[in-house]
Amino acid sequence: MTDDQKQALDAAIEALELSYNPYSGFAVGACLVMDGGTQVTGTNVENAAYGPTICAERSAVVRANAMGMRLFRGIAITGRMTATADEDADALTAPCGVCRQVLFEMTDLGGPGHDPWVVLGSPSKRNVEVTTIRALLPRAFGPSDLGVDLSRFRS
Ligand code: THU
Repeated sequence: MTDDQKQALDAAIEALELSYNPYSGFAVGACLVMDGGTQVTGTNVENAAYGPTICAERSAVVRANAMGMRLFRGIAITGRMTATADEDADALTAPCGVCRQVLFEMTDLGGPGHDPWVVLGSPSKRNVEVTTIRALLPRAFGPSDLGVDLSRFRS
């Protein structure tokens, strides 16, 4: 991992503490590293009606957008059952299908050659995989398929 990636994983692990997960008891933390280097974290926020639950990855994207930032260099993602101590948690958490599609939106916005890194890291940091957004969503459908002028949305 690069220094950028290590710092993003640390921030994602810290964000686990803020997860609102009374129903699943599963905490997810994500940290986007934006094009300018700013870190934007997110956690899952669950809901009593279940369906309105938002994942950590999407909450980070929505938060970054509200801060005026869309293009990102990479994202670190981590998760664990809240009952498990961080130092014992070796499992990786990969983004759900809906989050892959939302992350792809902001990837394709950067052009066909833009492919942010994805760090999947366990809370213990003993287990880490590095991949990319395009590798996680092969043959994706994205904004470039619609032939719209995206230039004014690139920030
Ligand atoms: N979750 C995420 O936050 N990100 C994912 O990519 C997978 C699932 C959350 C949603 C829900 O609050 C909990 O994990 C269990 O599904």
